[in-house]
Amino acid sequence: MARIVYVNGRYLPYAEAGVHVEDRGFQFADSVYEVCEVKSGALIDTTRHLARLDRSLAELKIAKPMSDAALRHVLAQIVRRNRVRDGLVYLQVTRGKAARDFLFPGETDPTLVALARPIDPYKVAAKAKSGIAVKTVPDPRWGRCDLKTVMLLPAALAKETAREAGAQEAWFVDEKGFVTEGASSNAWIVRPDGFVLTRPLDNRILGGVTRATLLDLLKAQGVPVEQRPFTVPEAQAAREAFVTSASATVMPVVSIDGHKVAEGRPGDLTKRLREKFHDLAEITPV
Ligand SMILES: Cc1ncc(COP(=O)(O)O)c(C=O)c1O
Repeated sequence: MARIVYVNGRYLPYAEAGVHVEDRGFQFADSVYEVCEVKSGALIDTTRHLARLDRSLAELKIAKPMSDAALRHVLAQIVRRNRVRDGLVYLQVTRGKAARDFLFPGETDPTLVALARPIDPYKVAAKAKSGIAVKTVPDPRWGRCDLKTVMLLPAALAKETAREAGAQEAWFVDEKGFVTEGASSNAWIVRPDGFVLTRPLDNRILGGVTRATLLDLLKAQGVPVEQRPFTVPEAQAAREAFVTSASATVMPVVSIDGHKVAEGRPGDLTKRLREKFHDLAEITPV
């Protein structure tokens, strides 16, 4: 089936979709994005994704391209037109096109792009069954990781380093030895006493939508949580470890820098949280 991409008001065949060479997203990474999960033909946690998009746009003074209702319509259309039942939808907003200059242009229309991609749910389930390996790397990123910008080169480099080490995700580590977050996920551990630990929100990490929904689930399940930074040795000695992201929901981590976490198998709590995640997530059929 031909893929359809939304670009600035038009639904175009994949091969014809594009943005201007002087788009500031292309030249300055002057751009923010969202990735939402699509599960069984429904969008997951749209309200939280749109709220985070609003925040990223406002902090960077990029104009909002359209109302939330219109954005929801575009998201639903792009999922429907591509007949995606399980996968993800990607939405990107740039400051728009303007002659190359560091200073913000006066009046430009933001660029809005949306695309949807299927993901084989069986492949993700198989990955979750075995769990993933993590490689730690120093965190070289800027001081506004709380904004979901397309400045993703450090994440791409980190994931490449992880791949070379036989791992599927990288964990960034700050100058004090604390894990900040994954290259494209939030990082969590379960302490031997059963407490779930994750770094509190600050400028060094993205406030994951999956993280927020998982905190709701942990509360509903009566699982004790402590939001504080943890070190790599603490994570290696943990009872369980996992990462969260819209594309993988709750993904068990079974080794960190070659050191097995718990017996190298996904933990029971992690498995339960993965199973129950969508009970608490917001589900919007498209
Ligand atoms: C750096 C980073 N942290 C955390 C996350 C998880 O965020 P979410 O749960 O909203 O997908 C992502 C997702 O892409 C990410 O890129």
